[in-house]
Amino acid sequence: MKPPIILINYKAYENSYGEKGVEISKKIEKVSKDYGVPIIISVPATMIYKLSQILEIPVYAQHVDALRHGAHTGAILPEMIKDAGAKGSLLNHSERKIRLDEIHEAVTRIRDLGLESVVCADSYELVHPLALLKPNAILIEPPELIGSGRAVSKEKPEVITRAVNEIKKVEGVYLIAGAGITTGEDVYKAIELGADGIGVASAVMKSSTPEKIVEDFIINALKAIDRKK
Ligand code: G3P
Repeated sequence: MKPPIILINYKAYENSYGEKGVEISKKIEKVSKDYGVPIIISVPATMIYKLSQILEIPVYAQHVDALRHGAHTGAILPEMIKDAGAKGSLLNHSERKIRLDEIHEAVTRIRDLGLESVVCADSYELVHPLALLKPNAILIEPPELIGSGRAVSKEKPEVITRAVNEIKKVEGVYLIAGAGITTGEDVYKAIELGADGIGVASAVMKSSTPEKIVEDFIINALKAIDRKK
């Protein structure tokens, strides 16, 4: 059985860095190990090295700049995140959009370095063109639902079903759905609609018991996958 893809984007929540960042990451890793389901955590750039040293679950950057070595003050290059221990990067998140040529360059460089990329799309129409760039996965997220607590799988299920149809046009690229995912039921629904997994932020990062939320997500994801067999 192919495991579900669970991607937790830490964004810049107050527990995304420092000791709190370490604490939540250890809790997430424990759930991942308990269920044998890999969970990707997408962390602030400053935390990549530290978390990669102490965790076995894949640590991603939240963004990279499609630039080459040289005079680029403040730049975070694909080579830098690799050196810090990242397994991959999110790209083009609605909160950190980049141009199409930059997405292309970043996806290619990331792949050449042996890392993974998850490219965000804010509408299903962009799923096919972005998938042609051959990232590892596309994360479809209607921006208006991000952080809303209203799940894409319930509020706009047609976005997922259309995105699933688009991703089928390209071989070897996964489709993840996100925005407003809050409950296990939201996760179940997303996978039932054809997504390979989910992306989430606020429901986990703002919870006082993030491990319980993540556990519920995994249980429901596995249930949905089992049901589809
Ligand atoms: O990258 C995932 C994220 O944008 C979803 O955010 O808070 O709606 O789970 P949230």
